[in-house]
Amino acid sequence: MNTLCSLDKLKEQVKNCNKCLLCEGRTKTVFSDGCEKAPIFFIGEAPGKNEDETGLPFVGRAGKLLRSFLDECGYKKEDFYIANTVKCRPPENRKPKPEEKEACRYYLDEQIKFVNPKIIVLVGSTALASFCDDKKLTISKARGKLFKKDGYNFFPVFHPSYLLRYHSMEENSPRYLFKKDLLEILGMIK
Ligand code: URA
Repeated sequence: MNTLCSLDKLKEQVKNCNKCLLCEGRTKTVFSDGCEKAPIFFIGEAPGKNEDETGLPFVGRAGKLLRSFLDECGYKKEDFYIANTVKCRPPENRKPKPEEKEACRYYLDEQIKFVNPKIIVLVGSTALASFCDDKKLTISKARGKLFKKDGYNFFPVFHPSYLLRYHSMEENSPRYLFKKDLLEILGMIK
């Protein structure tokens, strides 16, 4: 069985998943976007309204901002794969609860195993908390610093929804740091 076939099967399982209550409010499950052989795996928080409607991660306002930064930094389609800590939209865009992330974790762990990326980018504090043992560590402290765990390299970055509030590209501004981090990550795989 090849990887593609297995990920397709997993996606089918996700479509029928009712492991947590988020399944009750969803329009579509949001499995992934991008290249299944990519060296960089982005993990966001959760689907929002646009993602729930399309079944694709990071296609709303924050997603468009992320994708424009990736473009600007020179990321190609084959460089990355994107998923979230949960596959269904939480009501009113609240953060996913620990038990929802836990219920969905099997799918994410399988995706990571199949893709086997060189770097896992933790996009924002929710993704950071899912993989970092130090639960008190903030995204501001963690961003830009590579750490290793369970044989994988993790690299936390700001969440693009945070960047929607700050427009400056001045040195050390959130957008400046976000771009710097994305360039550093790309440099690690080239
Ligand atoms: N869209 C996603 O798919 N994930 C996020 O974390 C934010 C927007």
